[in-house]
Amino acid sequence: MSHQEWWRDAVVYQIYPRSFADADANGQGDLAGIRARLPYLVELGVDAVWLTPFYPSPMADGGYDVADFCDVDPRFGTLGDFDALVADAAEHGIRVIVDIVPNHCSAEHPWFKQALAAEPGSPARERFIFRDEPNNWQSMFGGPAWTQVEDGQWYLHLFDSSQPDWNWRHPDVPALFEDVLRFWLDRGVAGFRVDVAGAMFKDAALPDLPPGTPPDAEPSPYLHQPETLAEHRRWRKILDSYGDRVAILEHWSDNPEIMAPYLGDGQLQQVFNFTLMSTPWSATDWRAAIESSVAITASMPITAPWVLENHDAPRLATRLGVDQSIIRNPTEEALRGEIDIDRTRGLRRARAAALIQLALPGSAYVYQGQELGLHEVLDIPAERREDPIFTRTGGAIFGRDGCRVPLPWSGDAPPYGFADHPVRTWLPQPGDWARQTVAAQSADPGSMLNLYRTAVRLRRAHFGSAPDLAFFDAGEGTLAFTRGPGFALVANLGQEAVALPAHTGVLLASGPLEGDLLPADTAVWVSR
Ligand code: NOJ
Repeated sequence: MSHQEWWRDAVVYQIYPRSFADADANGQGDLAGIRARLPYLVELGVDAVWLTPFYPSPMADGGYDVADFCDVDPRFGTLGDFDALVADAAEHGIRVIVDIVPNHCSAEHPWFKQALAAEPGSPARERFIFRDEPNNWQSMFGGPAWTQVEDGQWYLHLFDSSQPDWNWRHPDVPALFEDVLRFWLDRGVAGFRVDVAGAMFKDAALPDLPPGTPPDAEPSPYLHQPETLAEHRRWRKILDSYGDRVAILEHWSDNPEIMAPYLGDGQLQQVFNFTLMSTPWSATDWRAAIESSVAITASMPITAPWVLENHDAPRLATRLGVDQSIIRNPTEEALRGEIDIDRTRGLRRARAAALIQLALPGSAYVYQGQELGLHEVLDIPAERREDPIFTRTGGAIFGRDGCRVPLPWSGDAPPYGFADHPVRTWLPQPGDWARQTVAAQSADPGSMLNLYRTAVRLRRAHFGSAPDLAFFDAGEGTLAFTRGPGFALVANLGQEAVALPAHTGVLLASGPLEGDLLPADTAVWVSR
């Protein structure tokens, strides 16, 4: 693999800065906290980190409401802290990817404040999408996608009302973002994760949607407009002018026809593959999901960045701890008391899923806490919830706070080493995390953390970046594939133990084997 394409099979660790490590003990994580924990990431063996937004922000949407795209929010530190982090990370061989949020800004962004102070029809308003009458679009977070201002006009926000959408047809907007890219590239970032990458341009006519259309339906007048693809090609030229830099696009679509143009010639390099986040726990479904993903990219010079968890979805161990017919959001059902979560089973499956993810060709994204097997935190009191989805739906949807709780590092009570001193963490940590901490898991050879550490090391030693993925039949309920002649993954997603296929050795198992039998909800890496 050429150095230029380091991202193809990289293991990238997603950091949610507010919840990673708190150096100044104010209850919120910060850049200095991340820097102090770099040895942890080195031991985990990751190639890069992706930092979700740490830019100045009122934090109405966890920092995805950006008031200044070229600075650091004081609660996270300074630009100096950022530079120091990038420099230290580079010394440890870890690259830093940052988030870019091009669809919207914060209502506190100076250009939006100018727009509010200006007249309807003024150039300042033209940078956003103001109209005299709203259309019928709905916000992705619930409620209407339009908010009225004092003089009667309405502005568009596909997310919270505090996140006005940019008008990408105004030349100031592409110019601003091209500067933002250069600003961070000049500071040494390895690339960008592009937020809501398909929504930048809207159909200029802003047509109504057929009544009842869900806001994330495709095709749509606000997703995947050709001008968005053209802008991405301009970004690609900027990235290429810096050498080995990458962009990974966030699209919640698994429609090959919609995704393919994003991966064409001259486009940005990668699109997240979220399929496995909503695939029911069955070998047939996992194989179909993997095969269809691989098929999308087969003819293209890319491989899929596989994702099992991120800051927008329920924790894997929780998701897999429910009946497999419940696919999308078990947190919501569990909080409404409609289902029970079998945490032990969920964790066992999450361990098996980790070995599947890390054996697949392409890059793998690991969200902080995934390597600890953390469960979704369900019992956050309403008054402590911060996700705008919770408030915008009047509490009907609990939202994403449960996967964003500050990490447990050590000790047996909150804040579990998240900060050195007793602090009230911005989201409350559960009382029963003593055995989940990094320190406790480091001392336990059978822990999830040690499974990840070993798997990442073996992955580097055993797999090349070539796709060379071939499924084979290892019996009812199993998912089995080889990666080249000497290595196979076998995972039992069924109910009964199965005989392990012929092998010369077991490299790693997600749980205890029963002699030559592979128990249910267990995966192994074998040499052949
Ligand atoms: C996707 C981000 O991952 C999510 O956290 C955010 O709320 C929306 N985009 C809006 O920026």
